[in-house]
Order: sequence, then C-alpha cells, then structure tokens
Amino acid sequence: MVAIRRGEPHDLPRLMEFDCFSGDRINEIVEGRMLVAEVGATVVGYLAWQHGGCIGKDYVNKLVVDGRYRRRGIAQALTQALSTTLSGRVYISAGAANTAALSLIHGTGWTPAGRIDGLLPRDEPELFFRRDL
Ligand SMILES: CC(C)(COP(=O)(O)OP(=O)(O)OC[C@H]1O[C@@H](n2cnc3c(N)ncnc32)[C@H](O)[C@@H]1OP(=O)(O)O)[C@@H](O)C(=O)NCCC(=O)NCCS
Repeated sequence: MVAIRRGEPHDLPRLMEFDCFSGDRINEIVEGRMLVAEVGATVVGYLAWQHGGCIGKDYVNKLVVDGRYRRRGIAQALTQALSTTLSGRVYISAGAANTAALSLIHGTGWTPAGRIDGLLPRDEPELFFRRDL
C-alpha cells in the first residue's frame, strides 16, 4: 500500500540514497514542490516540480522511484496525486530513449506537446507532454 504526502526536511537523507539527479533536493522540499511516496514507513519515490518551469507553465522536472520498488505503481500513484497540489496545465518530459518514463507518461493521461533537440547528449531528443489538472 503506497501513501503520498509532501516531502519534509527529514526525508532528505533517505531521498539521497536513491536519487539519480545531481545535487540535493532541499530547495524542492522547503519550497513545498515535492511529493513523496511511502511504503510502510519507507520513502520509496518522489516527484518534484518547478512553478512556471516550462515556458511559464508548471513543469514536473524530477520523478524517481527507488530501483528496488519499481513496477509496483509508485510513479503512477505520484503522478495521480499531482492534482492534489497543482492545477491547470502541467508539463513533463523524458528523453526519447527512456522507455520506462515514456511508458509511464503514455499510461497516465499526458498528451504529446513536442520535442526539443540538442538538450541531451548523443542527439537524444527530449519529449514533452502536457496534462490539464
Ligand atoms: C520512470 C520511473 C519513475 C517509473 O517508476 P515506477 O514506479 O517503476 O513506475 P510504475 O510502477 O508506476 O509504472 C507504471 C507503468 O509505467 C510503465 N513502466 C514503468 N516502468 C517501465 C519499464 N521499465 N519498462 C516498460 N514500462 C514501464 C508500465 O506501463 C507500468 O505499468 P505496469 O507495471 O502495469 O506495466 C522509474 O523507472 C525511475 O525512477 N526511473 C529513473 C528516473 C527517471 O527516468 N525518471 C523519469 C523522469 S520523467
């Protein structure tokens, strides 16, 4: 059973154990821009966003699930919970080679919104999607 709540400062050490993005996540937490997923008392994934981060629209720029907890619906639950914190048009993106993220995005109600070339190494396009909450 997965529970979704706001990220809190005490979550930081646990998040750092599985985060795949550089730096730490303290800004997202203190600015209230993060949801975390818990299984039992263990944080197993998080989703974070930037207000106005995609040409003025809210943008989900980080979504990570601990490798040991993948394919259990954790990311799906986090994206579904977005509507409890954001409203209006929201964007998300993933590299064209990120099969897991793209499968998740296609299955959770996002509409294709275009691509940007030249952002990622090896000429991998970044694919963007939008959803109205
Ligand atoms: C992408 C990621 C967040 C998915 O997390 P997850 O909790 O495993 O995803 P879910 O269990 O909620 O998957 C929901 C659906 O997405 C699709 N999916 C998820 N992972 C997949 C994979 N590895 N291959 C194919 N489809 C996948 C499936 O359709 C899945 O439904 P199913 O399990 O019933 O078939 C996770 O793989 C991750 O943290 N990746 C590294 C960071 C990353 O790339 N983030 C994306 C930035 S947008």
